[in-house]
Amino acid sequence: MLRASLLPNIARHAAPAARRIAVMGGIYGNVPALEACLADAAAQGADLYVCNGDMTGCCGHSDRTLEILRSRFTVFVAGNHEQQSHAGADSCACNYGDPEDTACGSIGHRYSLQSLSEENRAWLGTLPELATIETAAGRLLICHGSPGQTNEFLYDTELDEKPLAEWLDLAGARAFVCTHSGFPWVREVSGGRFAINAGVVGKPDHDADLAVHYALLDVAPAGFCVDIRRVEYDAAAWVARIAAEGVEPMFTEPLQTGVWTVGVASLPAELRARQETLIRSRLTPALSLA
Ligand SMILES: [Fe+2]
Repeated sequence: MLRASLLPNIARHAAPAARRIAVMGGIYGNVPALEACLADAAAQGADLYVCNGDMTGCCGHSDRTLEILRSRFTVFVAGNHEQQSHAGADSCACNYGDPEDTACGSIGHRYSLQSLSEENRAWLGTLPELATIETAAGRLLICHGSPGQTNEFLYDTELDEKPLAEWLDLAGARAFVCTHSGFPWVREVSGGRFAINAGVVGKPDHDADLAVHYALLDVAPAGFCVDIRRVEYDAAAWVARIAAEGVEPMFTEPLQTGVWTVGVASLPAELRARQETLIRSRLTPALSLA
């Protein structure tokens, strides 16, 4: 449930004129992927930009990423990466179920800290955990993992309508948008409402497709219309750059193959099997699931 303790930590926004809202999260310092998503959103006529957290991460380049975000986006919430960076913590607190994934996540978190200025670290501490936006389609709730917990993974293979409806009821919202898990999805909830995972900008979604994702919401009095955008960018050039800067292969390989190296063991069995079926269907002889 949405914890009462979070209620004071909601930033409230009004955007009555917004017609097309771009929601992007899970950037992880992947600058060219962010730029490609921004170009796509601009071409689609987005007029409000929302970031739902995990701006920084395993690609490093935190300050450049935040410079772009702070110049283009209006609404922000903190992800676990922002909370941990501001606290000076040495782990990403992704909430992985597997200890090896947790250890690897901490290595990636170091790259984000090494490229983060004190000024930006202080700014991360000002970010709310939740945000609401009043639109012509009704209230939109923005969160990172779930409306109730910043680092909760909401996977489409495990969704239960009851908590989704309760979160929307409690916030009085027509829709909420999360990220964090790395897998985009849209689920209709009773009353013409939606729960949405925007996917992530900074890495592929473990399906052997190199593209990244964000959510584009059309705003109309009848409600929101949701499009999960699939965006390609020059991953090979980016990998060459960050590998030369010292980013470990466990973080660069997924950008080149579309197959995760970190976080797989923590996925629910059904979701992992679904993604591995997709990977096998797309796999070239040069890649392997090992
Ligand atoms: Fe996250």
